[in-house]
Formats: sequence, C-alpha cells, structure tokens
Amino acid sequence: MTEEPPPPLKSTKWFGKQDVPGFVHRSAMRASGFSPTAFAGRPVVGICNSWSELVSCNLHFRGLADAVRRGVLAAGGLPLEFPTISVGEQLMKPTSMLFRNLMAMDVEESIRAYPFDSVVLLGGCDKTTPAQLMGAASADVPAIMLTGGTASPAVFDGRQLGVGTDLWRYIDDVRAGRMSTADYERLEAAAGPSVGHCPEMGTASTMAAVVEGLGMTLPGAAAVPATDSRRMQVAEAVGRRAVQLAEEQLRPSAILTPEAFDNAITLMLGVGGSTNAIVHLLAIARRAGVPLDLDRFHELSARTPLVVDVRPAGQHLVEQVFHAGGIPRVLKSLEPLLHGDAATVSGLPLRDTLPAAVPDASGVIAELDTPFQGPQGLAVVRGNLAPNGAVVKCSAATPALLRHRGPAVVFEDMPDLLRRFDDPDLPVTADSVLVLRTVGPRGAPGMPEWGQLPIPTRLLRLGVTDMVRISDARMSGTAYGTCVLHVSPESAVGGPLGLVRDGDAIELDAHAGRLHLDVPDDELERRRAGTEPRRARPSRGYAALYVEHVLQAHEGCDFDFLAGRSEHPADEPEA
Ligand code: FES
Ligand code: MG
Repeated sequence: MTEEPPPPLKSTKWFGKQDVPGFVHRSAMRASGFSPTAFAGRPVVGICNSWSELVSCNLHFRGLADAVRRGVLAAGGLPLEFPTISVGEQLMKPTSMLFRNLMAMDVEESIRAYPFDSVVLLGGCDKTTPAQLMGAASADVPAIMLTGGTASPAVFDGRQLGVGTDLWRYIDDVRAGRMSTADYERLEAAAGPSVGHCPEMGTASTMAAVVEGLGMTLPGAAAVPATDSRRMQVAEAVGRRAVQLAEEQLRPSAILTPEAFDNAITLMLGVGGSTNAIVHLLAIARRAGVPLDLDRFHELSARTPLVVDVRPAGQHLVEQVFHAGGIPRVLKSLEPLLHGDAATVSGLPLRDTLPAAVPDASGVIAELDTPFQGPQGLAVVRGNLAPNGAVVKCSAATPALLRHRGPAVVFEDMPDLLRRFDDPDLPVTADSVLVLRTVGPRGAPGMPEWGQLPIPTRLLRLGVTDMVRISDARMSGTAYGTCVLHVSPESAVGGPLGLVRDGDAIELDAHAGRLHLDVPDDELERRRAGTEPRRARPSRGYAALYVEHVLQAHEGCDFDFLAGRSEHPADEPEA
C-alpha cells in the first residue's frame, strides 16, 4: 500500500509554476533579496506581528519574531514576517474594542491573500489576541499562536502590583483623600516597569490562557513572563512547529471544535478570568462555525470552581502561576471537567500534553476538590431588563450584593455620569442600583470598559466600597465589584435598559440567573412608545461601518458579515 502524497503547499501556487504569474512572484521574492533556494519548495511561514511602539504590552515582539524565525529556519521553512495594525488598551480612543474587528479583518485578509502555508500569530495586549484568533479562524490556514507574556510587576512601597486591580484601588484612595498627590506621582512612575501584558489575570492573561485551553499554542506557552528567556525558547519551538503544521495541513478548523471551546471556558472560569473573554470566545466560535451561547458559560460555571489564587480573584500574579507549573498544571487540576481528547496544535490530544498531578507546594494552584472558591464564579442573568442576557463576575463581587433589590439611579450616557455622579443632590444611597446606558456596542460605540461605574465620592467617604451597577458596557478584566455587564439588547437598539427611570426597583439574583425591573409590562410598553433609542451615528469611515454591522454582546460583537470561514484560496481563480 502506498501512502497518499501530502497536499501541495499553498505557496506552490505562487512560486511553483512556470507561467507568467509564477515568474512575477519569484522575481518579486528575488527583489526582496531571497534566493530561489530560500523559498522554492519550502513551507512559507508567516509571522503575523502586532508589534507597535504604541502598545508597550507588545513592544518586545521584534525579538520574539526573531526567535520564531530561528525555529522556522531550523525546521526547513521560510519565515516571512508581516505587520498588522496593533490594538492597544492604553492609548486608543474612544476604546480599543472599536478596533478589534478591524484588526481581525486585517489579519484574515493578510493570511488569505499572501502565500502562507502556515502562520504564527504574535499577540498580547487584550484585543490583539482575539483579533488574531478571529482572523486566523476565518482564513483557516494552519496557525499557531504565541502570546507575549506578562510584564514584570510594578513594586510600590514594597508591594508587587497588578496593573489594573491595584491601580483602581489607589485611584479610589486618591478620591477618598487617603492618598497624597506626591504618592500618586510616585505610583505613576513605578506602574509600568517593563514590556509585556498586564501581570494579573486581566483580559490579556485570560486570553493567553484561553489560547492554551483552545489548543492553539504549545503547552505551557501562555504564562511564561515576557522577559523570561524561556519565552524566547518557546518562540523558537513555535517556529519549528509552524513548519510541521504546514506540512501536516493541520488547520484551525481541526482545533477549534465545540470541545475546545468547552475546555477554554472551563479554564477561563478556573482561573477567575476576565468577562471580556466571554465576548471574544463568542466571536471566535462564530468564526469557527461552532454553536456557542451565553447559557454554555452559565452551565460550565455551575460546575467549575476557582483553582488558581491569582488577582483579581485571589492574591498572586500570573508570574507565580508560571512558577507553580503554568497553565498545563491548572489544566491538570481541571482535567476531570475537560475533554481530554480535544486536538491541539502540538499534534497531541490535550490529555497527553498535561503534566503529572504533583501537588503545588507553593499554594498557587489548587486541586479540583480543594479549590479557592466554589463554582459559580460567573453568572449569566436574564429577565425583562436583559432578555438576551447579561453577565456578572460573582468571584469579583460582594457576595451580599449578588441578591439585591434597590432603587435605580439612571445615567443616560457617560457624559451624564461624569457630570452628575458626584452631585451632592443626587438621590443615591448604598442600596441604590446605578444604571448606565448608551454604552453598548452601538451606543458608545465600541462597548467600552465603563461597566465598573464609580461609587459616588460621598458614599466612598462613608466607607461604601461596592454597589450594584448595571450597564450595557464591558468591564476591565482587572476590575471588581458587583457589576452587571453586557446587558443585551443594549439601550441603543431599543433594549429595555433604555426604559429604566430613577427610583424604579431593580432585582438582581445572580446565582438564580435573574435580573428584573419591577415595573408593570403595560407601563414599560407605554414608556417604549415614548422613547427614541439613542445611538451613535458616525457619518463616515470605519466607525460608520461598525455601528451598521456590529452584533450585540451575547453574539460576540463581531460584524454580521464575518461569520464563518473565508473561501479557500485554492478555490479562487489565479491572478
Ligand atoms: Fe495591554 Fe493590559 S494594557 S495587556
Ligand atoms: Mg484590560
């Protein structure tokens, strides 16, 4: 019996033909300085680089790309690095989320249009990772991801800081008069000591873990710190593996299965990860053609405890998780809840990539039967205020507030909130439910991270540290508080959040999955008839495309025309 010959490489269509396009393509490579020996017949590995001087989280990616290149060359491939836009959390206005889909399109079309037999995706800062996964899932060319690792933690007054979680607390301290301006300036100087993404289990680290849970990177890659030399070694291994992926034609469609999404969600819950990952996973699943909805998150949350003691849900930083064995050790604790036979880009089923179950002596990673917190760290709530669902990160909330009834204090939009939340006449008490609307995907637009509404200073000074807050926005993965997020449909498309009035009673019962506006239906209908939903109406450009086509939070906020995979280049006529 003879073995089937491997399918021809995609790049053969560019470089392997003796026609005029073949001549043009080869001479273009020679114009870039590549000899035919460098590219003829070799797997071409794209290195999709989101390096940018505007994104400190991804600023070390040139060195990382060099290490990937080394691995590709050693395995007999040709590495070709290409840039995409880079979406950074810290400097982009109005919100980086507005541009995630733009980056995903850039990544997809670059992979599709160029002669890549496989790609290495280099992402790190919050949106860069999901954007690259979305693009790669739709392009469906063999792909492997390498995230950039966490930054060295800041040290302030002898304490290691997370970038978000701790800073939010200090900002509250400043507002409450507990921290001086001089100390605040010292904090600013100390806050960002290195490249790499935020060092706690915020959105970037959650998404890095999710990549490993999905099987889209090599085992152990997610938690290596950005500045640890082992990250460069992982990069080299990723480059080598990318050449094999091209030869094996192992595509994202073979990895991104329903089982892989279950595994990634279970991992996200087990590490107390960011609620932003919910939106991103819904979007990636839509690209991969995998049915996934919010209810699956609620179901998996009901059985998945918190097995990692990492901020914001716990005490440590991701670096300590790495030293305790990293994500493979976390997955080992969660193994009874996982689909062990899920395929991974390593070529092995997930179960065969896990380490032995040696107890973690450092106390950072727990076993499944002795977790740091029980299940239900995340709840999906529904009701007449959120017919298509909303989410609450219970592990970051005040337990007593997860079941609460209180009168609404409504802010029309972010400018209204900024104008009035510290107004001495605002009728607000610790029992009030703060409501912010017009901050969803179409309303803001871009669904910014405004869901952790500030506590009015007057209450802060009285010692109030948490209140129930409800919005159609998102919340930073490093934030905390009893925040009901991602309310869908958002007020800007006529969702009932737009009908709440000051003083209406709102009932939250997170664990029961309930969010109720205690106003009779006929009164709500009367209000609806007299309410014109307010939404942003950009006149031109990408923002106009965005508000026209963005889906709601429960669908992942992708564009309506981007579901599924793009056509395979082999099916298209040649230029
Ligand atoms: Fe880039 Fe947090 S700002 S990861
Ligand atoms: Mg963030």
